Amino acid sequence: MNFSTSATDGFIDLRSDTVTRPTPAMRAAMAEAVVGDDQNGEDPTVNELERRSAELMGKDAAVFMPSGIMGNLSSMLAHCGRGDEIIVGDQSHIVWYEASGAAAVGGITPRTVPTSSDGTLPLDLVEAMINPRFPGSSATAAIAIENTHNRCGGTVLSLDYLAELKAVANNHGLPVHMDGARIFNAAAYLGVPASAIAAHATSVQFCFSKGLAAPVGSMVVGDAAFIESVRYQRKLLGGAMRQSGVLAAPALVGLNEMVDRLPEDHIRARVIAETIAEYPAYTINLDTVQTNLVIFKTIRNQEEVIAALKERNVLASNMGSRGIRMVTHYEITDMHIEQVVSALKDIAHA
Ligand SMILES: Cc1ncc(COP(=O)(O)O)c(C=O)c1O
Repeated sequence: MNFSTSATDGFIDLRSDTVTRPTPAMRAAMAEAVVGDDQNGEDPTVNELERRSAELMGKDAAVFMPSGIMGNLSSMLAHCGRGDEIIVGDQSHIVWYEASGAAAVGGITPRTVPTSSDGTLPLDLVEAMINPRFPGSSATAAIAIENTHNRCGGTVLSLDYLAELKAVANNHGLPVHMDGARIFNAAAYLGVPASAIAAHATSVQFCFSKGLAAPVGSMVVGDAAFIESVRYQRKLLGGAMRQSGVLAAPALVGLNEMVDRLPEDHIRARVIAETIAEYPAYTINLDTVQTNLVIFKTIRNQEEVIAALKERNVLASNMGSRGIRMVTHYEITDMHIEQVVSALKDIAHA
């Protein structure tokens, strides 16, 4: 059986790192996974993945999620009650791409703070947005941040910034939730273990299905009582699974085999970005190209440029007012990058 075909075979698919398909080692691990009923806590592969994840992030406990969005939503539901507020960046994935789950499902009001181009939320604005709990008022129950930041082009929050944000949150007794879908990319950029980043957040959601190339799944980590609550919210949302060891097994392969290779993706993204920067047909802020995402604008119609790239076998995604996005991942080789570079040059000259 040929496992490698997909609707986009033959293309250099830079739309997202979510397009990666499980490696042969992942498929073998899925076939061989020892499984049990996870809702009874009896799936040894899920248990092992949760244990490893908590350990890697330096937290007490972890719970395996079917998706990053469910991880973020379950975490927000665990941090906030109905009628509470969450402070979140106006460019965050939570605000743009998560079907307004916090509001729609949890009755939680997102109080948005303008996201700076580096993905940070200005601390004075965060502090000014905090609504204390008193009768007749809704109250801030959590602060959410994103690291790396998708709509900012994969930017990484510095440890200093995270420490300052944590201090603001602590002063007001608030938890910090980190949407760390790509936290291992952030760790690779900073040259620190992921736990050094996670130390500044109360809870972290991270994905196996992006740079780690596993087919499905995310993890939420935090202290034991919080994770119990997140486990309950996962059940409420219909995300509690059964023999999910078949999904945890490739995620474990991702942790073992994909984390250390992420800097390769960053180097390749940088090559694309530097090519883009050479041509007046495009604009890019090279400072934001820190990890595996490249977002740029064009003086031409964005759709036309995406179509022109596709004619040259390169798939990119349209991020609307943010620009065109290209994402490198383990299926993208140096040879592909050469083709992407020549497609970009060709279009710039057209
Ligand atoms: C920053 C960020 N957070 C959360 C998610 C959600 O992950 P999923 O698509 O697995 O639900 C994504 C997905 O692209 C993301 O980029």
